[in-house]
Amino acid sequence: MRAMALLLPQGGLCSSSSRCVVPAVSLVLLVALLAVSNTYFAFPLRGGGAPYPSAGRRRVGGAGCDIFRGEWVPDPDAPYYTNDTCTVIHEHYDCMKYGKPDLGFMQWRWRPDGDGCDLPRLDPASFLAAMSGKTIAFVGDSLARNHMHSLICLLTRVAQPKTSWPSSKHVVYHYGGGYNFTVVNFWAPYLVRHELVDPDGPVHTGLWNLYLDEPDEVWAAHVGEFDYAVVSASSWFYRPSMLYEAGRLVGCHHCLKPNVTDLTLRYALRMATRAALLAVSGRDGRFRGTAVLRTVSPSQYEGGEWNKDGNCLRTRPYRRGENSLQGIELDFHTLQVEEFAAAEKEATQASGGAVRMMLMDTTEAMILRADAHPSKYRGWTPEKYFTVYHDCVHWCLPGAVDAWNDMLAHLLLTPQSRQS
Ligand SMILES: *[C@@H]1O[C@H](CO)[C@@H](O)[C@H](O)[C@H]1NC(C)=O
Ligand SMILES: *[C@@H]1O[C@H](CO)[C@@H](O)[C@H](O)[C@H]1NC(C)=O
Ligand SMILES: *[C@@H]1O[C@H](CO)[C@@H](O)[C@H](O)[C@H]1NC(C)=O
Repeated sequence: MRAMALLLPQGGLCSSSSRCVVPAVSLVLLVALLAVSNTYFAFPLRGGGAPYPSAGRRRVGGAGCDIFRGEWVPDPDAPYYTNDTCTVIHEHYDCMKYGKPDLGFMQWRWRPDGDGCDLPRLDPASFLAAMSGKTIAFVGDSLARNHMHSLICLLTRVAQPKTSWPSSKHVVYHYGGGYNFTVVNFWAPYLVRHELVDPDGPVHTGLWNLYLDEPDEVWAAHVGEFDYAVVSASSWFYRPSMLYEAGRLVGCHHCLKPNVTDLTLRYALRMATRAALLAVSGRDGRFRGTAVLRTVSPSQYEGGEWNKDGNCLRTRPYRRGENSLQGIELDFHTLQVEEFAAAEKEATQASGGAVRMMLMDTTEAMILRADAHPSKYRGWTPEKYFTVYHDCVHWCLPGAVDAWNDMLAHLLLTPQSRQS
């Protein structure tokens, strides 16, 4: 087993290979509030026809129809919004504004394999109509926020939300004016309760306590209010941590204490994922909706380490099979799939069918998109102990990550999609 040896500032990690990971760093989004405007943006809307394929148009549940296996194909109509039309894009991934030179990365869409197995681009008007009266929560770290911002941006063609901030870790976007749709974002980078116990820590990057069986109340206290919960996490788990279960220390990840067992970050992510999925299993009767687990989002440094020469300079997607998930991210993916399967079983039994669970397995699509990260084309202020020259972790908006919402819309709004 590879030692988690080189822990870098703020818990970033480089393995011995060139694939490295940088965790999300900014804790709280301190940008100006959305200017809610009624400006109409003259973007082409999708033509007629059913926005979401009906059972007749695709082989629902057919063996050959899995929206997460496929390839990227040109989409000359993209992008569907810009940095000027969408005001929520965080500067960390506002690649248009920060001058990414080749914008061709925006003009691809994900096409699943198989005849009749198309994945249409999210149609904002039909999406909003279908979501009337509903609330969707995005729970996780800055990649969950990246995903959520993409959704808000895709919807700007039709409507602008009103934003409120119940707390620094809880943002609410409400679509009024007859839409009555609510998007909430919770900052829960570990999914479970956590606290910084030593800002210096074993390798000058801080040490965290993680309570692996306690879903973070920041979001867990609200599960009864959601119709949909999209849960994801992994990038913060690289940081050194002390691991607690039932309030007792059970081990750690890279704490470098001789008398504490190193259970590794895989263990920490597995147990935190388990706890998060249990919170939306319907076991306690509070959550009655659809829970979605999104799999690991690959970071893609080539030619060096993340805080040195590593970069993401490609200008085209990889073709199918040209790149594959490796190392710790492959382990993360495996454990996410395993934990999802167990949780789905639990939810079916515990909720009597009231809770649906879905795996949103975006990893295979994204491993092909090393061209779609910000690199240096984003707003960034170096922080103490933490200098990232190139961001190959987040995803430019607009860009490849918009496909996550095509997938999400399909999962949530197509009856019986993706049977297992
Ligand atoms: C959007 O990006 C362009 C550069 O591509 C820039 O000139 C413009 O100011 C940006 N708009 C906003 C609102 O930041
Ligand atoms: C909006 O949706 C919520 C949740 O379903 C519902 O309670 C509320 O009455 C709706 N408001 C309007 C104005 O339709
Ligand atoms: C580990 O050893 C240190 C120093 O001897 C001690 O302070 C600490 O309580 C020990 N921790 C555990 C979990 O036994």
